Amino acid sequence: MKEKNINGYIFQLYKKDTYDTPQVIKKSADFLRFMEKRRSVTGFSDKYVPREVIENLVLTASTAPSGGHKQPWTFCAVSNNDIKLGIRLEAEKAEKEIHQDPGAEVWLKEMYPLQPITDKSFLETAPWLIVVCKQKGLPQEIFHATESLGIASGMLLTAIHNAGLVAMTHGISSAQTIKAMLGRPANEEPFLVIAVGYPGEECYVPKLIRKGLKDIAVFYE
Ligand SMILES: Cc1cc2nc3c(=O)[nH]c(=O)nc-3n(C[C@H](O)[C@H](O)[C@H](O)COP(=O)(O)O)c2cc1C
Repeated sequence: MKEKNINGYIFQLYKKDTYDTPQVIKKSADFLRFMEKRRSVTGFSDKYVPREVIENLVLTASTAPSGGHKQPWTFCAVSNNDIKLGIRLEAEKAEKEIHQDPGAEVWLKEMYPLQPITDKSFLETAPWLIVVCKQKGLPQEIFHATESLGIASGMLLTAIHNAGLVAMTHGISSAQTIKAMLGRPANEEPFLVIAVGYPGEECYVPKLIRKGLKDIAVFYE
């Protein structure tokens, strides 16, 4: 591969397939149609997903851009039943606490038509939980680590959808407990739990309408 030294840094020639404008339009529209079919599900099948698939998904996520190319992530792939149960119990405990909070009524109305569920059995049924952990550069934060983790997690969800699998993103309520369960080092913090697997036979998802272009984009031409 052709290389060049620019100000003491090695650059390599980058080759990418490019297309004419009509093909670019078609490819972007086709991918939109494909991504519109992605949904977050709790109705997982317990069907086995080989470790090789998870390895490919994680490696895909790790192609994400990151601040200073630090790749400040560790993907903890959990199929161990005891750890999955521990994560489920912790999630259910946190959800119950939220429901008991005096402000819960307002929050529940805010969530409508979604029904926050205290039953987190999907965290056990899904064959894999990927706990995305953020690395901290002690004592300072790694440059733009949170943004980098968000992008990598989005790419992970896209890769899962592309593989014909489904996912549920679960926000971390008790980072310290999950960190201890996984035995992660001091410089790592659990960021998200992403449950991965096949959808169950009858898998229902909330009927949602996504915002239209005029509600999400402003063009300055
Ligand atoms: C950080 C994060 C946490 C989420 N936590 C939950 C959750 O606890 N329970 C749940 O049912 N969905 C959860 N979701 C999924 C959202 O409800 C879902 O993405 C949203 O309703 C849009 O639906 P869709 O992903 O099927 O398009 C979460 C999503 C994100 C990004």
